[in-house]
Amino acid sequence: DLIRMGVARLGLRQPRHAASAAVVPGALVMGGGLTGMTAALALANSGQAATLVERETALGGMLRDAHSLYPTGRSAATFLAQMVEAVTHHPRIKVMLASQVTEVSGTVGRYAVHLNGDGQPLEVGAIIVATGAQVMQPWGQYHYDGQRVVTQLEFERELCDAAPNAPASSIVMILCAGQRDEAVPYCSGVCCIAALNQALQVKAADPEAQVTVLFRDMYLLGEDLYAEKVLDARRAGVAFLRYAPSSPPRVTGEGVEVRDQQTGRDHRLLYDRVVLATPLVPQPDASVLAHMLKIGQDENGFFPEVRPRLRPQNYAERGIYVCGVAHHPTGRTEAQFQATDAAFRALRYIRAGQVTSQAPFAAVDEKVCTGCGTCVAACPFEAITMQKRDGTLDLSQIDPLLCTGCGNCVVVCPVKAICQPRDQDAQVLAQIEAALAPARKNGRPRILALGCEWSGHAAAELAGANRLSYPADTRLIRVRCSARFDPIHVMWALLSGADGVFLGACPPGDCHYVNGNLHAQERFDTLRSQLAQSGFDPRRVCLEWITPDDPHDFVHKITAFTTLVRALGLSPVTVK
Ligand code: FES
Repeated sequence: DLIRMGVARLGLRQPRHAASAAVVPGALVMGGGLTGMTAALALANSGQAATLVERETALGGMLRDAHSLYPTGRSAATFLAQMVEAVTHHPRIKVMLASQVTEVSGTVGRYAVHLNGDGQPLEVGAIIVATGAQVMQPWGQYHYDGQRVVTQLEFERELCDAAPNAPASSIVMILCAGQRDEAVPYCSGVCCIAALNQALQVKAADPEAQVTVLFRDMYLLGEDLYAEKVLDARRAGVAFLRYAPSSPPRVTGEGVEVRDQQTGRDHRLLYDRVVLATPLVPQPDASVLAHMLKIGQDENGFFPEVRPRLRPQNYAERGIYVCGVAHHPTGRTEAQFQATDAAFRALRYIRAGQVTSQAPFAAVDEKVCTGCGTCVAACPFEAITMQKRDGTLDLSQIDPLLCTGCGNCVVVCPVKAICQPRDQDAQVLAQIEAALAPARKNGRPRILALGCEWSGHAAAELAGANRLSYPADTRLIRVRCSARFDPIHVMWALLSGADGVFLGACPPGDCHYVNGNLHAQERFDTLRSQLAQSGFDPRRVCLEWITPDDPHDFVHKITAFTTLVRALGLSPVTVK
């Protein structure tokens, strides 16, 4: 059966045409903080000229406010001065301060970057996004006023100004303030060690100073080194109190009230200064930048880097690389590591000189397109634009280098003007027909399964490799993404004699084409209600979220579906 299905598909296959374009040998680094400077230096030291754009009037970002570097205790100012010197005097780096990117046009391989106050756009092939993040200022919470109750960053400035004296003699530090809760669910990953470092600095300047750290958990990377830091802090006389997430510390004008989770005792701590470990949050204009560069944002507003191991490899690399805190809160070492990695990926990209896409990109039939624009909104990669035809009518046009071949536009086009020459509907329908051509065995129901190659299909293959069994009457068809699933495919399967249709898609948040799975879910829901209205049992079609590395889950779900269809009996559609 599988061979027949494969032959049916292959018989309608069209030749492969790759789309390619030259890559302009220029690089732009957005953001002049530590991450951006590291990336620019990595490029320049490898022989690649780079333009570094910083919106502030000085380089350094948050490092400008740092007193010392963790874990070495090295002076942040000295370190920063050396970096700035290296960047500003490098012959291959052009630094543009007080500059901001206002528009990015062009396409893969050749971006035209418009900067404020600069008439001529900058032409580059690669863009490194190192725009960082900002510290959340918790106005309205914890009695925050930026004076007696401050953020860690504000306290760091105070330490810089007060050195070598302690800035206050009675200090309460509250970790996880305004993070790891409903509003900001993530951990910034850098606050615990920053608090320990600041506590030690205060104690070094004034051994009599009272420092109390209120914490939920201690998140310390490189445990040996930092466990030592905790011990150092304890030896220096820093007190630690653990509080429960359900009863966070309460700050009033007079003191901090907290219940020690370990002893159950209530404490009231007087303070000169409360230091809040508030989260790093995305820059306020992150969504503007995301829109400009056509890059996604995760649920917290950061720019997610495409997971290289899970990324479909056959569409054009866009030459846009995100690193450092703009990607996700992280420490200095990790940010520098990411910056270097981004620089070398950009370098390899530029030096290749050409970018090629092997994706089964979609194409518009100009004679059929009515210019409704539905596809423009449906494309998660903004690969489709409306262009004037004969100077009057709008017509959709697909940039083959931006198209990833997910197939979403093919499905949404109401007049079927879009097709993927290398993944046509006719091929899928032929495969379905071939799958259901043989007669039922012993009157058993037949199940047609459509599996996203990144989840449902991958898990089914893994089930095979693990020698797991699932009902033998299932015939599986691989689709590139569940976005390619078209209700027509299901109807065709039902009319061709399927008793049930199963779609295995990536769970929400895991689709390799942004949100193809959510489109699929919407289509499935609509189809099921339409089937129900026609008196057809909608339980015969089902969509399940499948993770690619869990073959047992796939086996369980497809078996449960088959059992259900068996209980429902053979399909009332009796074409066969
Ligand atoms: Fe699996 Fe989109 S890639 S559903």
